[in-house]
Amino acid sequence: MRILVINGPNLNLLGMREPGIYGKRDYAALCDFIRECARSLNIEVELFQSNHEGAIVDKIQSALNGFDGILINPAAYTHTSVAILDALSAVNLPTAEVHLSDISRREEFRKFSYVSLYAQKTICGKGFDGYSEGLSFLKQYIKNA
Ligand code: DQA
Repeated sequence: MRILVINGPNLNLLGMREPGIYGKRDYAALCDFIRECARSLNIEVELFQSNHEGAIVDKIQSALNGFDGILINPAAYTHTSVAILDALSAVNLPTAEVHLSDISRREEFRKFSYVSLYAQKTICGKGFDGYSEGLSFLKQYIKNA
């Protein structure tokens, strides 16, 4: 089973970026954490991070070649990007959405997620653990499909 893990804008600055909200661990630590979860679940992951909406759209489209599902933290594009929603709908792979922070308890503009209109599951406010929950969900969901 192969899962594409996508992280959106500013997540490359984890650790230094608003640590009170996003934690003190950096993006490399997040990648290590995700790889470790994948190993223990016996699934393969490819990790991708970009600050550019079009690059994320291109990567989602490329998932048609050889991926069984997508785990995505669209970051700020969560709240703005019809293009990312459309790409996920077009590719039509099982998708879990993850946010480090609890977007339902922050500013008003973070409460709406375009990606949630497609994703089969949304996990918020669990920090790094949200990624492991997302991978476990996808493994089960894909098995049952
Ligand atoms: C985020 C929440 C978004 O609102 C924000 O723009 C991010 C990160 C999270 O992981 O909590 O960049 O997706």
